Order: sequence, then structure tokens, then C-alpha cells
Amino acid sequence: MLQRNKSLLAFNTFGIDATASHFSSFDSIASLKELLLNRDDMPLFILGGGSNILFTQDFNGLVLKNEILGFEILEENEETVLVKAGAGMNWHEFVLKCISLDYGGVENLSLIPGNVGASPMQNIGAYGTEIKDVFEFLDAVHISSGTIQRFTNEECAFGYRESIFKNKVKGEYVICHVGFRLSKKHILNTSYGAIEAALQDQNIKDPKIKDISNAVISIRQSKLPDPKVIGNAGSFFKNPIVSKKKLTQLLDQHPEIPNYPSGEDAAKLAAGWLIEQSGWKGKVIEARYGVHKKQALVLVNYKDAKGSEILNLSLQIINDVEQKFGVRLEREVNIL
Ligand code: FAD
Ligand code: EPU
Repeated sequence: MLQRNKSLLAFNTFGIDATASHFSSFDSIASLKELLLNRDDMPLFILGGGSNILFTQDFNGLVLKNEILGFEILEENEETVLVKAGAGMNWHEFVLKCISLDYGGVENLSLIPGNVGASPMQNIGAYGTEIKDVFEFLDAVHISSGTIQRFTNEECAFGYRESIFKNKVKGEYVICHVGFRLSKKHILNTSYGAIEAALQDQNIKDPKIKDISNAVISIRQSKLPDPKVIGNAGSFFKNPIVSKKKLTQLLDQHPEIPNYPSGEDAAKLAAGWLIEQSGWKGKVIEARYGVHKKQALVLVNYKDAKGSEILNLSLQIINDVEQKFGVRLEREVNIL
């Protein structure tokens, strides 16, 4: 049902009180197509779990909340299984369901907020795994023609926090289903130091996918704020990628700078470290918003912050980091 002047407060984990002039949810491709046909050229915004969005103003247009559910096994052999999930399924529930069926590949991505449909948007990643490692296809409705199109892994052009849906075809498709190729004979990924440490702590010598998931959950809970308690959208910025030449210059001045190889001639820096060294970690502004005290990459809304205030804070951080290190941070969160 189409609703007017709908508050989006309950629909974004930043807890920003913006309004949409028009709002509707849909739970099938047929109902989505009907809404698209009758929208009278209104600007559109597709909403999932609202965990990677900052509303900086009211939205004069139609917000469509994707609630397509479903979990279907399409193919199975001795080694792998191909699962198709509805875009509106909660991501962590999807992960837990896979683990309960002993399907491996997404356990390192436990407890990431949001829905299945947004997972390919920025190729969600954590603790050594990215969605591209298990992604097989997605089915999306092309907004202007109403046709359903299938995109393969290659066609999505996944990169670090990137896909074709964030750049080349931004705003052109509604993702409705995603297919994942999961393992039945598992290769565990414990390469992220903190996972090894958590398993050792619990004296787990022969970990199962459930143990990896539990380790990831406890690491995440120890440093990331729970959006139900403190408004946030996870990492506000991407970790910047710089040339090896730039890294050498930085290491001259800051030998302790965390850095990780990224391709042949580049390195990834830790934005959290750059922000912390610029003096922003734990900053609280007017007792309402600021930078999280345990993880400087996360901007937080303690109480009643406006999206525009958080956006301004992010600009100040970008400027300070650029002045101190000559590295320009890019935002990860979608700004509306
Ligand atoms: P939304 O915020 O609703 O939407 C995000 C974007 O995708 C918007 O542009 C929206 O228009 C578009 N979109 C959503 N659904 C569809 C669809 N079906 N079709 C077309 N477009 C769509 N991300 C990580 O990668 N790794 C992490 O470790 C991580 N940790 C987080 C921790 C916290 C505490 C929080 C709050 C966020 C974290 N995130 C992380 C970010 C976020 O969880 C992911 O980006 C997630 O995939 C967003 O899903 P969503 O359904 O909430 O998307
Ligand atoms: N660091 C600091 N200070 C901080 C935060 C981090 O010095 O305040 C340093 C840490 O000491 C460490 C390095 O930065 O050396 C990396 O920190 P961490 O392992 O916490 O990961 P991150 O790079 O800050 C990224 C993702 C997270 C993801 C984790 C785990 C991005 C933008 N963020 O954070 O994703 O969960 O790794 O894999 O890539 C998200 O995208 O929303 C998100 C939370």
C-alpha cells in the first residue's frame, strides 16, 4: 500500500529522522512491477535494511522497501550447493540458515546488518571473505523496461566495496534474488588474526563453520556499536588504496602505519588508524554524535543528530586526514 509522508526513522540504522513523500514495500516481483508502472516518474530509492545509508534530507519521491523472501536450493552435488535467496531476507538470518544446513562460505560474514539484496551492491566483506567469493548470480528488475535480467559474478564487476550497481548502472536495477555457491566440504578461512586468537582463546583445535561464525560474532560485538543501541552505518569510509610510492613516503614519516598489499603496485591503509592519528577517535559533538570510541571508522548518532551534521563531520575528518597524511578518504556509506 502506498503511504504518504512516511518517517524513515525506523528504516535506517543511523537513526536519522527523515521523511519520504511516498513509501511502499513489495514482497514479489509482480507487486514491484506494478509499483514501478504506477509511479508517475517520481524519483525512486530502493531500501533494504537501511544499514548503509545516511539520509541528509527528506526524500521527495518513492521509497520502495524490498521484502522479497525465500530460500531455495537450485542444485546440489557432493561438493557444493547452489542456493537462491530473496533480496528481502535478513543477511545474518541467511548466514545462520546456511550454517544450520552445514553449507560453508558465508560464516566469516556473520552479523553484517542488512539484507541479502544489498550484499552484492558493495560486495560486502569482513574477516578475509567477500561476497564475490561465493556469489554465482543475481536476478534484478530493470527499472525503466521492467525486464528481469540475470547478472553473473563477472558481470557484477566486484571490487573492494564496489560493484557495477554502485557505479556504471547505479539506480537502474532492483535486485530481487541472489544465488550463492556454497561448500559442503569446507575450506575454512581463519587467516584474519583475530579469528585465530578467538579460536585459541576457546581452545578450539578443529573448528567447524559454526565456530568461525561464533568467533566473528564475538570479535564484531567487541568493537562495533550495536545499531539498536547507538545509531551508525558501520565503516563510514573505505580503507584507502595508495601506490607503493606513496606508501614508501608515508612509512618514512610513520614507520608504524598499518598497511596491507593490494594488487601489484598498491597498498591498502587502515582508515581507522589514519582517523585515530588525526585526533578524531572518540570525539563527541554536542553530546549527540561523533566518532566511535572503539573504532574510529564508525561515525555514530547518540541522539537526534541530523544527517547533514554527520555529513559535515565526515568532511572535517576527510580534510584533516588529507592534511596530515596526503590521503583522501572516500565514503563507504550511501548519502541521500
Ligand atoms: P541499505 O542500507 O538498505 O541500502 C544500501 C544501498 O543499496 C542503497 O544505495 C540502496 O538503494 C541499495 N539497495 C539495497 N537493496 C537493494 C536492492 N534489492 N536492489 C537495488 N539496490 C538496493 N558492510 C560490510 O561490507 N562489511 C561489514 O563488516 C559491515 N559491517 C557493518 C556493521 C554495522 C554495525 C553496520 C550498521 C553496517 C555494516 N556494514 C558492513 C554495512 C552494511 O551492513 C552493508 O552495506 C549491507 O549490505 C547493507 O544492507 P542493507 O540491506 O541495509 O542496505
Ligand atoms: N585501527 C586503528 N584505530 C581504529 C580502528 C582501526 O588503529 O580506531 C587499525 C587497527 O588497529 C588495525 C586496522 O586499523 O590495524 C584494521 O582494523 P579492523 O580490523 O578493525 O578493520 P577495519 O579495516 O577498520 C574493515 C572493514 C569492516 C570489516 C572489518 C573486518 C572497511 C571499510 N571496513 O574494518 O567493514 O568488518 O575490516 O574485516 O573495509 C563496514 O564495511 O561497514 C565494516 C564494518
